Amino acid sequence: MHEHDVIVVGAGGAGLRAAIAADEEGADVALVTKLHPVRSHTGAAEGGINAALREGDDWELHAYDTMKGSDYLGDAPAIDTFAQDAPEEVVQIEHWGMPFSREDDGRVSQRPFGGMSFPRTTYAGAETGHHLLHTMYEQVVKRGIEVYDEWYVTNLAVTDHDDPEERHCHGAVAYEIATGNVEGFWARDGVILATGGLGQAFDHTTNAVANTGDGCAMAYRAGVPMEDMEMIQFHPTTLPSTGVLISEGVRGEGGILYNDEEERFMFEHGYANNDGELASRDVVSRAELTEVNAGRGIEDEYVDLDMRHLGEERILDRLENILHLAEDFEGVDGLDEPMPVKPGQHYAMGGIETDENGETCISGLYAAGETACVSLHGANRLGGNALPELLVFGARAGHHAAGKDMKTAEIQTGRSAKSEDGDVEPPVEPGAIEAGSSDGDVAADGGERSSSDRRSDAAMVEPKETLEHTVRQERERIESLLEADGINHAEVRSNVQETMTENVNVFRKEESLNDALRDLRRARERYEDVAVADPSRTYNTDLIHTIETRNILDVAEAITLGALAREEFRGAHWRAEFQERRDEEWIKHTMLAWDDGTPELYYKPVLLESQWKEYEPKERSY
Ligand code: FUM
Repeated sequence: MHEHDVIVVGAGGAGLRAAIAADEEGADVALVTKLHPVRSHTGAAEGGINAALREGDDWELHAYDTMKGSDYLGDAPAIDTFAQDAPEEVVQIEHWGMPFSREDDGRVSQRPFGGMSFPRTTYAGAETGHHLLHTMYEQVVKRGIEVYDEWYVTNLAVTDHDDPEERHCHGAVAYEIATGNVEGFWARDGVILATGGLGQAFDHTTNAVANTGDGCAMAYRAGVPMEDMEMIQFHPTTLPSTGVLISEGVRGEGGILYNDEEERFMFEHGYANNDGELASRDVVSRAELTEVNAGRGIEDEYVDLDMRHLGEERILDRLENILHLAEDFEGVDGLDEPMPVKPGQHYAMGGIETDENGETCISGLYAAGETACVSLHGANRLGGNALPELLVFGARAGHHAAGKDMKTAEIQTGRSAKSEDGDVEPPVEPGAIEAGSSDGDVAADGGERSSSDRRSDAAMVEPKETLEHTVRQERERIESLLEADGINHAEVRSNVQETMTENVNVFRKEESLNDALRDLRRARERYEDVAVADPSRTYNTDLIHTIETRNILDVAEAITLGALAREEFRGAHWRAEFQERRDEEWIKHTMLAWDDGTPELYYKPVLLESQWKEYEPKERSY
């Protein structure tokens, strides 16, 4: 058993920043990560980091833009904390050596990004995330923070109390990919989940194959509610054949979108008469698909993004990476021709419910970055707000977990924050919800325990016993997957990805969402028959992907249930049956708790007021 004060799960931007913060407090901290840190998906972030740094800008403007961008589903205490802390975090990484692009006078450059009233996006070419990751990893190495890389955390060691708010997280269990060993990591002070996104629930995504919603799924099954899972961002400019991201930085620098009739449709068809291509992402993605659906798409699929007029010198200076991506993945030379683009899944606004200090309702368990929902982005994230989020809330979670005395959070978590009950969409077929229950899943993969198991096991409240018990469970689960005969997980995974992309995309309607739910529940039943054909203990990627697929199933179902429940059009969530934002009824967070396997839907209020400011919902136009 490994022992540390703080265990950080995941070593992308949020995990690295959390680990550094815990180290700053003097904690013995370790990173446990299924990838080497610099292979984390933060490295694929292109565009930039928003922070109010210059004269003429201030945190209140940044906060206002973020709240408006969220379509009034973000929580003011999170937004205001974020906008206030972001400048200090950007200065901090600059001092750590982040190679920002600069003006001739030496100042860090800032460019416009969608939905913002001030050009506040700092960047390092179009490889901002790559440089950020390396800058922070240098700090981790310099500080001697222990990194267990290629250790895949498969479960959390959480006590058995019936009420999730009485549970405590004592650590995590991880599978060493190189050897097949399963070991426990005891966290004396806290576990911070920083596992990134869940894009692999979709088949056209900018996300890496590693982004399988692991943190969300583990926290959900441990009893932490998922918040606003229906809020999925579809980025307007992804390459049609692969989903590879073409940065919003192209439009920030002046790139233009055209339809098949060579119309600059963002203006000419009135989608965003003020900001055009730099409207927020939900608006631009809907506009592109509306053009395609109206027969004005190119090859009935995509639109063109043209940056040729920016000139070679500026493109090479600020967007060189984009040239390589377009050439390598689509065979297009962005200096000579427009680049084909279409919307693709990019980001999860929802996730593990936390407060401003990264705490969940389970003591000792924290989350930060994309896997968390604090809630900063609400119904739509602004481009350039993800990297500062992982800095600000990664740092706060790390400091808090390591014992720093921080201001009490304004955001409440757990069922005690509930304002009203909701109805989970009834099962499409009798008993289908129970197909997702943990009782049923014990047979499938051994990863869950029923409530009666829990209640009969009093020892599960002690830290070491809790961890040892979870280690035994995970060893059994892995053995049973290796020993069973059955189908390959890839069949299940592709069923999930296809139905999510077909039915839970930019435009959503009740019938399609129900189709998705039915497909997901069938996929869950099929998952009970999965087995790993490769018996190897060394680099068994089939095994890893099989465990991940279980996580993908759980998050996909939560997204779909949330999308069915929310009967309005807000931000990224468009519903055919409900063409308006319905503020009187729907300024509330969709919460899904999955204690013992049956999804329970409830709501909690959105906080439009913080100790600093109050926000009045307004019509959102760009
Ligand atoms: O378009 C981009 O460069 C992505 C930025 C982001 O998601 O914040």
